[in-house]
Amino acid sequence: MKKAVFLILSLFLISCTNKSEEYIDPRGTDYAGSESCVQCHKTQSEMVFHSSHFKATAPAILENVSGDFDSKNHTFIYDKETKLVMEKHGDSLYQVLYKKGKETAKYKFEIVFGTKHAQTSVYWRNNNTYELPLSYYHSVNNWATSPGFPADKPYFDRMVVKDCYACHSSNISSRTVDQSSAEKNFMSMDIEDVINKKTIVYGIDCERCHGPAKKHVEFHLKNPNVKVANSITSFKTLNRQQKLDACALCHAGNDGMKLKSRFEFKPGDNLSDFFRETRSINDTTQFDVHGNQFRLMAQSKCFINSEKMDCITCHNPHENASKNMASYSKICMSCHQGLKHKETTLKSMPEKLLADNCVECHMPKKASNAISFQLSNSKQLSNYILRTHKIGIYPTKKK
Ligand code: HEC
Ligand code: HEC
Ligand code: HEC
Ligand code: HEC
Ligand code: HEC
Ligand code: HEC
Ligand code: HEC
Repeated sequence: MKKAVFLILSLFLISCTNKSEEYIDPRGTDYAGSESCVQCHKTQSEMVFHSSHFKATAPAILENVSGDFDSKNHTFIYDKETKLVMEKHGDSLYQVLYKKGKETAKYKFEIVFGTKHAQTSVYWRNNNTYELPLSYYHSVNNWATSPGFPADKPYFDRMVVKDCYACHSSNISSRTVDQSSAEKNFMSMDIEDVINKKTIVYGIDCERCHGPAKKHVEFHLKNPNVKVANSITSFKTLNRQQKLDACALCHAGNDGMKLKSRFEFKPGDNLSDFFRETRSINDTTQFDVHGNQFRLMAQSKCFINSEKMDCITCHNPHENASKNMASYSKICMSCHQGLKHKETTLKSMPEKLLADNCVECHMPKKASNAISFQLSNSKQLSNYILRTHKIGIYPTKKK
């Protein structure tokens, strides 16, 4: 009886939502969704929609997933009898496990993480997501073991927790279910977090960085002649630490003690209310080049002595990192006018060339200690290489 009422009620609710065209954001009624910004902020929107931030997580459909699914580069051999093959069936993508030539299991690509250097995907199991054992790396244009995964046997049990989504998406809600009550077994008190699929807001969107903007949208739709921003936090009014925190939220590693969820952070908030740092900034720790741009930058003299450098000094927050190395040199030179290198340095690179290549020598590429991977049939670990944000003097490579 109760069930029938519930069914009728939910059918009624479904038909209601279908009728109204209005966008409903899973984060609640304070949010307007990125699509609503386009009409007034076309330039920013076009940049953002093409950025890595916006694609930091996405549904794992063919157009979002890199890598071969049907050529010779789509098989990973674990041993003589075990292989994992990337396969496309209709519109769906799978990692298919074969033992002695027989298909024994297949795991569907459901959500993809990353775009720039690497992609890893997850599949759903019991309302949680689990990382697939193989990821795609652009540096080798190939599939290889997901970070930390073994190369001698396939592993399917690494749960991708909410933390990953807190840096790679704009929302995900989970709730705790008491498994035991469902099974009427009071002896086992299995409490489990389950993710509500419908609450995922993929990628890092406008309101992830700018905070909820429904009021802002409604105000400006009603008052088209007002050209001064209403009901939105302006980054211009924030101090340096607040601006840094808005990026450090996701670019300062993951080793602080969590006090509040990253999802609750809004521009203007202090990161110290969210994490209790276990390490001081002046620590001589070698922070990893992966995921910790903020702490590396904070260790450099440019950051400490200029008292004004932040992420926006070099990056447009709406665009990917520029690939034009000369454009960064101009930024360096804006603070380093009249710079003179030593004769020995100038011998290694003529001054004219040097002028466009500050980054090459002072922010060199370094291997990550946190991430490495293994190709099929390879005994060796391959390095994951990123540019360090610790601006400094490094030994020059001999040419
Ligand atoms: C109906 C028009 C309209 C819509 C829709 C709209 N905005 Fe705005 N927004 C404005 C106007 C007008 C300004 C002030 C002029 C400017 O900075 O462009 C502004 C300014 C801003 C600013 C700069 C604030 C400052 O002072 O630095 C941000 C950030 C912003 N909007 C974010 C958003 C986001 C995010 C969305 C979508 C959720 C959005 N806007 C949707 C009209 C709109
Ligand atoms: C909610 C978490 C989050 C916040 C906040 C955030 N980032 Fe990111 N950022 C990421 C993730 C995740 C990636 C990796 C995206 C990918 O490649 O899939 C990334 C990538 C980048 C990249 C490289 C993009 C490319 O392809 O070249 C730059 C540059 C960057 N972020 C700068 C910033 C700056 C500046 C801010 C502050 C204004 C900021 N980020 C705020 C999570 C965040
Ligand atoms: C990674 C974080 C991030 C994302 C994502 C993001 N913004 Fe911004 N946005 C910023 C920051 C930081 C500033 C301040 C830039 C500055 O002061 O130079 C800014 C500035 C703005 C401004 C003021 C004018 C300008 O361009 O400086 C507008 C308008 C704006 N954003 C709209 C949007 C809209 C619309 C989206 C989504 C389509 C969006 N932003 C996505 C971080 C972000
Ligand atoms: C503290 C925030 C944070 C957490 C937590 C986090 N990431 Fe990331 N992740 C980043 C940032 C920032 C980048 C891009 C810059 C970099 O590599 O330094 C990135 C890069 C990546 C990339 C490569 C994207 C690219 O092409 O640059 C993948 C794949 C990825 N993360 C997956 C995951 C998974 C899976 C988890 C959970 C196990 C996770 N991340 C947890 C912040 C985070
Ligand atoms: C916002 C201003 C600013 C910007 C931008 C800037 N720097 Fe600096 N940089 C400084 C200051 C200030 C110092 C410290 C000078 C001192 O104390 O003598 C410094 C120091 C340095 C040093 C000496 C480091 C050491 O450990 O001795 C190098 C090398 C350097 N900068 C290179 C660069 C490069 C390369 C760029 C661009 C990628 C850059 N800087 C961008 C302000 C800046
Ligand atoms: C002095 C200039 C400068 C500052 C300041 C700066 N970056 Fe960068 N950033 C760069 C350069 C140069 C690259 C490398 C671009 C490339 O090699 O294609 C880069 C790349 C990145 C990447 C992509 C990772 C990679 O190696 O592909 C991320 C993420 C990033 N920056 C985040 C940040 C964040 C977050 C801040 C603030 C904490 C910041 N950056 C401050 C110059 C800077
Ligand atoms: C070929 C590598 C190389 C390139 C390219 C390069 N530097 Fe340097 N830089 C060095 C080395 C090595 C030193 C230390 C010896 C010296 O001073 O010549 C140095 C020193 C410096 C210092 C510290 C000087 C001092 O007196 O403390 C600054 C600042 C600096 N470089 C900035 C830059 C900027 C800005 C650019 C781009 C216009 C640049 N460098 C390009 C290798 C390079």
